[in-house]
Amino acid sequence: MIDNLMQPKRILVLYYSFSSQTKKLVQSLLDGMAEYEAEVVCERIVPAIPQHFPIGTIPKTIKKMIVTLFRQRVPIEPLPRHCFESYDLILLAGPTWSYNPSGPVLSLLDRDGKQLFGQQAVIPVISCRGFWRLHWWGIKSLLKRLGARVPNGIIFTHTSKEPWCTIGVFLKLAGETPERLSWMKEHYPKYGHTRQQLDEARRFGEMIARAVTQNQELERLEFNTQLALYEK
Ligand SMILES: Cc1cc2nc3c(=O)[nH]c(=O)nc-3n(C[C@H](O)[C@H](O)[C@H](O)COP(=O)(O)O)c2cc1C
Repeated sequence: MIDNLMQPKRILVLYYSFSSQTKKLVQSLLDGMAEYEAEVVCERIVPAIPQHFPIGTIPKTIKKMIVTLFRQRVPIEPLPRHCFESYDLILLAGPTWSYNPSGPVLSLLDRDGKQLFGQQAVIPVISCRGFWRLHWWGIKSLLKRLGARVPNGIIFTHTSKEPWCTIGVFLKLAGETPERLSWMKEHYPKYGHTRQQLDEARRFGEMIARAVTQNQELERLEFNTQLALYEK
C-alpha cells in the first residue's frame, strides 16, 4: 500500500504530426509537465509508409482531402511494448484531416485501441485549422466505445482569419509559401499555431501534471480558452 503511494504518477503521450504543428504543441505540453514529478513517456505514431509534407501539388492535395474525408487509414509501425502498460493518463494527439482524426491515428485506434485505451483516462489533443467539432465528437465516441474514460479535451485552432486560413493551409499543403505571396501575406502571416498558443499549451501541460500528481479531477481543468479555441 505504502509502495503504491510512493510510485510516481505516469502519463503516456502518443502523437502523430504531419506538418509539425501537433509536434510543437506536444513539445510545449511536455515542457509544462516537466515542472511536476510525474513520469512522462512520449511516443510518436510512425506511418509504415513515410508521409511527405508538403504533399507537393494541387491535384495530390485535393486527392488527399477526398480520401481522408472517407477516413482512409494510414498503416503504422508497431508501438513499443511500454505503451501498453498502465498509465494514470494518456494524451492522444494529432491533426484533423477532413473533419476526422488523421489516418495514422485511425489505424492506431483500429489496431491497438482496446489494448491501449480500455479502462484508461484519455485526453484527446487536436491541432486543426478551425473545423474541429466532428473530429472531437468522433474521437470521443470511438475512445468511449473502446472502454476509455474521456475526462477532457484540448483543441488548438490556427489563428488566421477565414477565408485566408483555409486558403493558406491548402496552399501550404500543396507546397506553396502563402505567407510570402503578395496577395496573401497581409492576411496570412503564418501557417499553424502561434508562439502564444505554444505558451498556452505549456501552461496546459503544467495543469495536467499538477492534476495527475495531486489526484485532482481532470474534468475540472479549463482548456476552453481564447488562445486554444481561437475566435476568428
Ligand atoms: C489532408 C488534410 C485535411 C485537413 N482537413 C482539415 C479539416 O477538415 N479541418 C481543419 O480544421 N483542418 C484541417 N486540416 C489542417 C490541419 O488539421 C492543420 O494544419 C493541423 O494544424 C496540422 O497538424 P500537424 O502539423 O500536426 O499535422 C487538414 C490537413 C490535411 C493534411
